[in-house]
Amino acid sequence: MSYKIVALPGDGIGPEILNGSLEILSQLSSDFNFNYEIETHDFGGIAIDNHGTPLPDTTLNACKQADAILLGAVGGPKWTDPNNRPEQGLLGIRKSLGLFANIRPTTVTSGTSHLSPIKKERVAGTDFILVRELTGGIYFGEPKHWNEKQALDSLTYTREEIERIARVAFDLAQKRHKKLTSVDKENVLSSSKLWRKVINDVANEYPDVEVNHLLVDACAMHLITNPSQFDVIVTENLFGDILSDEASVIPGSLGLSPSASFSENGPRLYEPIHGSAPDIANQDKANPFGMLLSLVMCLRESLKETEAANKLESVVYQLIEEEKTTRDLNGNYNTSDIFKFVKQNL
Ligand code: NAD
Ligand code: IPM
Ligand code: MN
Repeated sequence: MSYKIVALPGDGIGPEILNGSLEILSQLSSDFNFNYEIETHDFGGIAIDNHGTPLPDTTLNACKQADAILLGAVGGPKWTDPNNRPEQGLLGIRKSLGLFANIRPTTVTSGTSHLSPIKKERVAGTDFILVRELTGGIYFGEPKHWNEKQALDSLTYTREEIERIARVAFDLAQKRHKKLTSVDKENVLSSSKLWRKVINDVANEYPDVEVNHLLVDACAMHLITNPSQFDVIVTENLFGDILSDEASVIPGSLGLSPSASFSENGPRLYEPIHGSAPDIANQDKANPFGMLLSLVMCLRESLKETEAANKLESVVYQLIEEEKTTRDLNGNYNTSDIFKFVKQNL
């Protein structure tokens, strides 16, 4: 069995963190005896430069035929045409592949809690998964337009869209600590009134899961003051985008947070949650751990290479504990040093 993987390095720090991670994948495949084929495709700004569009058909078709997709990051100050932006490629691939569920874990281990900007005793024991709805809401709602005088975005959700993401979150909670927090803005938004109603309806199918509801502003506060209270959080697209960047600060850096996105039955896509970090691109400064932990999720969920996943994950946490980290985590090392350490420790 040989897995088909599509690599989309993208822009900015994307190629730096993804190419190094592919060398780690190669080492893992010989250590743990599995085979894969890899195809690299243009995506995002680089694809605009080379093909005139951020998501060329060749890239999308390759992704559709893959077992898994690894993505670095897209975007940057170079691409400013509002009608042809790298980020449209990202939204396009999510929509085309039906990647409605985005899993964004936040974990603080006992050996890494000192890296948090929040007091150690507050973050100790934090281990939650944010389930972000990824193909609906204000990102995709129509009509949508703007001109110099007026702008419109539409925030729509259907019962079906909320039900399917709710089931993903309830299923996860059932396998974990059976605690689900649904986040909305039910005191103001119509879409949130439906969201809360549907979450409560689906909750009837999961009597063993304790459900509570938080308004998004209060959730933002609870994430900082008491992050260890959460087990699984489920929320809509835009709230999930914002809260997951906030959550990434709890273990110490946006550069640490991985993600996995999946559809009903197609290939899954794995990417760190951060962007292309143009301010540090091409300087060997990027933290590659978010990308490497996304590779861990890929090995575990798509390739079913559990031992390789566990090994890489333990190496990443060991390096963080030993303070072999990049500057964003107060370390003294470059991206390339981190990849060397990972190879040695594997
Ligand atoms: P960003 O996530 O790229 O960067 C925010 C800050 O965090 C920057 O100071 C950056 O240096 C730092 N940072 C991010 N990742 C890091 C890492 N791995 N190591 C060390 N530091 C890291 O967000 P931004 O600056 O608002 O956006 C830059 C571009 O990225 C924009 O074009 C945006 O649209 C795009 N973006 C893409 C994705 C994606 O491809 N999935 C996600 C978010 C933003
Ligand atoms: C993310 C990013 C994207 C999003 C942007 C680049 C479109 O911020 O993956 O979190 O908003 O979903
Ligand atoms: Mn984001």
